[in-house]
Amino acid sequence: MKINTAEFIISNSDVAKCPNEPLPEYAFIGRSNVGKSSLINMLTNNKNLAKTSSKPGKTQLINHFKINSNWFLVDLPGYGYAKVSKKTKAVFQKFITDYFEKREQLVAAFVLVDIRHEAQKIDLEFITYLGELGVPLSIIFTKADKISKGKIQQHVAAYRKALLANNWEETPPFFVTSSSEEIGRDEVLTYIDEINQD
Ligand code: GTP
Ligand code: MG
Repeated sequence: MKINTAEFIISNSDVAKCPNEPLPEYAFIGRSNVGKSSLINMLTNNKNLAKTSSKPGKTQLINHFKINSNWFLVDLPGYGYAKVSKKTKAVFQKFITDYFEKREQLVAAFVLVDIRHEAQKIDLEFITYLGELGVPLSIIFTKADKISKGKIQQHVAAYRKALLANNWEETPPFFVTSSSEEIGRDEVLTYIDEINQD
C-alpha cells in the first residue's frame, strides 16, 4: 500500500473526544521507549509526524493520524515506565484501557516489543488483556537493527514459545521491524491494507 497523505488530527486523553468519523483505526501500544512513535514515522515516511525521544515517556496522549484520508494510525503513551512491583498485576493508565475498551473504530492493535529482550511480564499481561477483550492483535518486534540477522529468528521463536506458555493456543501475527533501517514497512502496511479491504 502506498501512503499518499499522513496528517496529525488531534491529541487527547479522553476517548470520547477522539475523532468521531467511522474510519478504521490501528493502534500502537507497548512499553515506553520501545519505538511506537518512530514506527509510525517509518510507516508514513515522515520523520516529523509523531514526536519521538530517546527518553521514555515522550508520548503522553492518544494521537490520531489520518492516512490517505480514510483510516487512522493511533499513537499511544507507553506503559511500564513507572515501576510496577513484580508481584502485583500491572495497572495500565485508565484512559488507555478506556481507549481499548470503548473505541468502536479500533480494528486491530499492534503490541510493540523490543526484539533484544526476552518476553516481559508487563507485555504478556497487556497481550492477555487485549486477547480477553477480543481486540485483534499482532506483535511487532522493534529495533531489529540492534541484533545480528542470524539472531532475529531465534528471538522471535523464543517469544512464540513464551506466548504459548502463557495460554495462547496459537500465536498472533509477528512482524520484525527497524525504524532506523526501514525494515518491515511493506509487511505491516500490506497487513493493514488486507484488513481494510475486508
Ligand atoms: P514513548 O512515547 O515514550 O512511549 O516511546 P516510543 O515507544 O514512542 O519510542 P520512540 O519512538 O520515541 O523511540 C524511543 C527511542 O528509540 C528513540 O531514541 C528512537 O530513536 C529509538 N528507536 C526507535 N525505533 C528504533 C529502531 O528501530 N532502531 C533503533 N536503533 N532505534 C530506535
Ligand atoms: Mg511515543
